[in-house]
Amino acid sequence: MTRVVADPADVARALLAGGLAIIPTETVYGLAARADDASAIARLYAAKGRPADHPVIVHVHDVAALDPSAGWVRALPSYAHDLADAFWPGPMTLVLPRGSRAGDDVTGGQDTVAIRVPAHPLARAVLADMDAAHPAAAPHGIAAPSANRFGRVSPTCLRHALDELDGVLAPSDAALDGGTCAVGVESTIVDCTGSLPRILRPGAITGADIEAASGLAVEGAERSEVRASGGLRSHYAPRARVVLCDAGSLDPVPGSGLIAPDDVSTPAGVTRLLCATDSADYARGLYAALREADAIGLETVVAVPPEPDDAGLADAVRDRLRRAAAD
Ligand code: TXA
Ligand code: MG
Repeated sequence: MTRVVADPADVARALLAGGLAIIPTETVYGLAARADDASAIARLYAAKGRPADHPVIVHVHDVAALDPSAGWVRALPSYAHDLADAFWPGPMTLVLPRGSRAGDDVTGGQDTVAIRVPAHPLARAVLADMDAAHPAAAPHGIAAPSANRFGRVSPTCLRHALDELDGVLAPSDAALDGGTCAVGVESTIVDCTGSLPRILRPGAITGADIEAASGLAVEGAERSEVRASGGLRSHYAPRARVVLCDAGSLDPVPGSGLIAPDDVSTPAGVTRLLCATDSADYARGLYAALREADAIGLETVVAVPPEPDDAGLADAVRDRLRRAAAD
């Protein structure tokens, strides 16, 4: 049984001592390890069942960690500072030239490192407590992939994270309950290694947001040479088969589940798993709905994606639905 604690300082202590911890963020729950502790990271990869060449995001307390003297990154373009100032703390990850503290185990051996300042108050408290333990040292980083076994749906509440990982954590590891994640899908990943920002994974911070904050055009993900494991086609998949469908051509399979905006009505014999009022509501409920399908043993889930829209989470939701449906 994983030790569930209430005090972020207990998690900070566990991480500083080389342990693992399940921590809440505003996007999804993460499985955390100290980013400069190679043996903790090795245990983290083993717990997730994740291949060793997949890079992880380093979470830091604030933008000070972008100073090259902190060791996490080298030089970075000025637009990366603009994005950090505009959206951190928040659901955005920047891929930057790596510094000497970012080891091969967190970068997957690439020349870049992914950095994020999370907004969830408990994640921030853990980072603040780690830094407070060594006030004179450079800021700590927490390596934290989503707290699911490799290839599975990300957890958006502690129960879901424990369902994934309870059996593989040690008694000295810890878990922190931060309620249900406010965003519900993973952070926007922005490649900042070129002359223009490039979105590698859509999230709550949209291309339009990035253009507004940087004053630059945002390049499409398809031209990027940087690898993102969220880029594997069948990622974020439940056991159930996911079929994408337009509202107009909804052909209900009796006994299936339905994930759709609230203006789509539920056909007879179909289990409604999500009735989303808008794209943010869709994002918040999507992963729990996919898990529910597995929990009640549905074979098929029909999903009606939200309409594309520039401003909200529609792009991110459509991306995750495509991946869940890919096989
Ligand atoms: O919202 C989030 O980002 C959550 C929470 C816990 O912060 N974390 C998360 O981590 O989604 P993970 O490991 O499940 O996904 C991290 C993604 C992967 O697709 C990985 O390939 C990509 O970030 N990534 C990490 N480092 C990278 C790098 N140096 N270059 C390109 N992609 C990188
Ligand atoms: Mg993940």
